[in-house]
Amino acid sequence: MSNPSILILPGDGIGPEVMVEVRRVIDWFGANRGLNFDVTEDLVGGAAYDAHGTPLTDETMAKAMEVDAVLLGAVGGPKYDDLDFSVKPERGLLRLRKEMDLYSNLRPAQCFDALAGFSSLKSEIVSGLDIMIIRELTSGIYFGEPRGIIEDNQGGRVGVNTQRYTTDEIRRVARSAFELARKRSNKVCSMEKANVMESGILWREEVQWVHDNEYPDVELSHMYADAGAMQLVRWPKQFDVIVTDNLFGDILSDCAAMLTGSLGMLPSASIGAPSETGRPKALYEPVHGSAPDIAGQGKANPIACILSFAMALRYSFDEGDAASLLENAIEAVLAAGHRTPDLIGEEGRTPLTTIQMGDEILKSLDSLNQA
Ligand code: IPM
Ligand code: MG
Repeated sequence: MSNPSILILPGDGIGPEVMVEVRRVIDWFGANRGLNFDVTEDLVGGAAYDAHGTPLTDETMAKAMEVDAVLLGAVGGPKYDDLDFSVKPERGLLRLRKEMDLYSNLRPAQCFDALAGFSSLKSEIVSGLDIMIIRELTSGIYFGEPRGIIEDNQGGRVGVNTQRYTTDEIRRVARSAFELARKRSNKVCSMEKANVMESGILWREEVQWVHDNEYPDVELSHMYADAGAMQLVRWPKQFDVIVTDNLFGDILSDCAAMLTGSLGMLPSASIGAPSETGRPKALYEPVHGSAPDIAGQGKANPIACILSFAMALRYSFDEGDAASLLENAIEAVLAAGHRTPDLIGEEGRTPLTTIQMGDEILKSLDSLNQA
């Protein structure tokens, strides 16, 4: 049997430097736990545009379809701001999501105790927080037609995007939320704007249908997305799994992420339907972006990207123990006071570089592995 395969797409900005640390972690699991992967690397986003004039070549797309998991760093940067919309770095990422049919995007917002003081909310509101936002990722206003900028008949311009959801699209993402809830606290809150949008009414009805017919044991509630945003900052621990559409999920997940103190800490997984191998297609990426302002300076926090690999271990490779080991190693590193610059508060600690943080995580893996 060949090893499971991983395609690494470091992308732009801080993507390449955080991905170097992920590769060291992958190698550690090979050397110390007999978990070997066939890893290949390729270009996406602005880096692919610079080399090939497109943010994702057909060859890279084909590779992504073949591997067992894709790990992506980040895409975009000011250098590409003036590019035509069709070749912007973000289009590479959106093409991957769409063609791999990665409809279920898992975005955990978990607050590490050592970092509770970092949140802009009081630490008692966020300490111990562990919620999961499931964002629909392949439909809705991101992809709906018609779209475009058109001329009206008075010589003005109109920007058009379309929010569109089908029954099947809603039901499949709802199922992934209920499945996950069963492995957690058995509670799902669905968010839409059924008070103003027909697509929101359909969303609410279909989520309720899946619940009543297939998951009656899971506690289900519904909330308008604006009220959901308010509740997220008021009392986030009331939630366990939140399921919502593509655009609301984009916004609510950034909000939830910041509750935990640092965007540099949060991973994500995007999961599709099972492929021929039985494994679902999957792409893992940190929630943070390319952070061009700090790129190339050794200031980036590699933890979100490393935790994304932990999610790959858990969801693509069924290696829950290895995933927990990695998460525990990171927790221990933070508890010991190691910090990248994004995690330096008033305590006046000396910041670690990206590589030094990688070193600490490997050391922590070593010591947990021997214990
Ligand atoms: C995200 C990002 C992307 C999105 C961008 C980079 C296209 O904000 O993954 O949340 O809007 O989905
Ligand atoms: Mg976003």
